[in-house]
Amino acid sequence: MTSWSALAAEMAGCTACALAASRTQVVPGVRPAGARIVLVGEAPGREEDEGGVPFVGRSGRLLDELLAGAGLDRRELAVVNTVKCRPPGNRTPRRAEAATCRPWLDAQVAAVDPAVIVTLGGSALAWALGPGRRLGAERGRVHQVRLPGADQTAYDVVATYHPAAALRFGPHGAPRAALAADLQLAAGLAGR
Ligand code: URA
Repeated sequence: MTSWSALAAEMAGCTACALAASRTQVVPGVRPAGARIVLVGEAPGREEDEGGVPFVGRSGRLLDELLAGAGLDRRELAVVNTVKCRPPGNRTPRRAEAATCRPWLDAQVAAVDPAVIVTLGGSALAWALGPGRRLGAERGRVHQVRLPGADQTAYDVVATYHPAAALRFGPHGAPRAALAADLQLAAGLAGR
């Protein structure tokens, strides 16, 4: 298995899809030692593309608040994205881009070998459970997922809304409450 740091070094030079042409830099994600939860977002936005770190913008600030509500601290979680380069104008990554980038994400998860994976939003849901799933139907419970190349390890996956959806629907909207509850579920699975 390739180590986290070797993966990050390799992906820094990736030109496997057209997103390489418009990015400032690859955003590989972060992985503190001993992380038991991997959060999988969608793609770097403008601030992440500039800073090289995932979830530093508005979505990231809400994520931190909701993590704290679930007794979690970002500094003990691995945080990655479905694609590692910013799509122009923050559009949703195309299916082909996500497929091209997928081996990086699968290898990152194998390198962390977490107790729980939390997918945030539709792109990460499609990565974990396959295309055509609806978040409303899949969230709030634990899925067992075998990832390509990860021998027979079945990971616990909690699929939930992206913090951007929680921002869009506001503080009293259903996505925010669901996201908070699902992070609590993940924290319990990770023994927190
Ligand atoms: N949204 C994401 O999905 N990932 C980031 O890193 C930032 C915003």
